[in-house]
Amino acid sequence: MDQVNLGRSGTRVSSIGTGTWQAGDDTWGPDVNDRDCIDAIVRASELGMGLVDTAENYGRGHSEEVLGRAIKKAGRRNVFVATKVSEHHLRPADVEKACNASLKRLGITHIDLYQVHWTDPYDQVPLQETMKAMERLEKRGVVSHIGVSNFAVRDLEEARSALSRTDIVSNQVQYNLLHRNVEAQVVPYCRRERISILAFSPLARGALTGKYRSSKRPSDAVRTRDVFFRSENLRLMTPLLTGLKRIAKAHGKTSAQVALAWLRSQPGIIPIPGTKRPEQTEENAGAAGWDLTSTEWRELDRLSQSLRLNTF
Ligand SMILES: NC(=O)c1ccc[n+]([C@@H]2O[C@H](COP(=O)([O-])OP(=O)(O)OC[C@H]3O[C@@H](n4cnc5c(N)ncnc54)[C@H](OP(=O)(O)O)[C@@H]3O)[C@@H](O)[C@H]2O)c1
Repeated sequence: MDQVNLGRSGTRVSSIGTGTWQAGDDTWGPDVNDRDCIDAIVRASELGMGLVDTAENYGRGHSEEVLGRAIKKAGRRNVFVATKVSEHHLRPADVEKACNASLKRLGITHIDLYQVHWTDPYDQVPLQETMKAMERLEKRGVVSHIGVSNFAVRDLEEARSALSRTDIVSNQVQYNLLHRNVEAQVVPYCRRERISILAFSPLARGALTGKYRSSKRPSDAVRTRDVFFRSENLRLMTPLLTGLKRIAKAHGKTSAQVALAWLRSQPGIIPIPGTKRPEQTEENAGAAGWDLTSTEWRELDRLSQSLRLNTF
């Protein structure tokens, strides 16, 4: 798989990553199990898709444990570990504690990318204190790179102003053909400042794969009340899903691969599709190594822009 720069760091990572929220527990459905999740991560590493995202929050650490077991099989050097400190642990002493606990669950001695999952909604911990704690971890070599997640431009600026010896390399945000509000400010800022965007939910949690419709909706805890899976919205997105399918057919690809290719082809965007099993990983890896034509890219852009999903 082709490699891309991670921010300004000089470090190269796979142009598509792998998300492992699914490995946390059964919130993504009863078809999730550790063995398949481990095999999915190992397969990702074999395919050169070694950027793997997790978080202390996912299944209260279980996703990190699963990733740790996968690393033992895949080999540490083949996996680029991106994990996150939760919004409940942003006091400096807690950042340190959370990092140590993640290292233990992952069975590793350093985290490649340590991200602040959300800004603090509860305790009013000054962001600058959190970021200084992150930088101390980086200075000690426990963390190689610092990233953030769900940060607006004002948060990015405040966070960066607290760092003296390093910079934020990435901002992980929701970005897909059904959810594009980051394009207004966050993406232009990050592109200009050379901060990579890790695009989460790049398949709109499965809606863009085309396998769901109003008569066949996922019933797991994550997606039951998800706006993308409301019957009305699934109907409204039919023209986009049809466009994805048509373009996919022209390339001998699947709709999921086209939806990921649409993101991947944009500079600085690294999609991290979540996976439940090796077959999904393999399919997602097939979104790299080829390109949409500019006409196809614009066609998807137009179909997506003309959608008005009901979000109320
Ligand atoms: N930073 C944050 O706040 C945040 C928030 C959300 C997610 N994330 C991260 O981003 C990752 C990805 O986002 P996400 O998991 O929310 O959504 P996603 O990647 O858009 O969708 C993942 C789901 O799509 C389905 N899928 C995946 N590959 C497929 C394929 N090739 N063909 C058909 N179906 C496929 C699977 O579910 P089914 O097979 O059951 O349909 C899978 O659980 C997460 O795992 C997590 O690491 C971060």
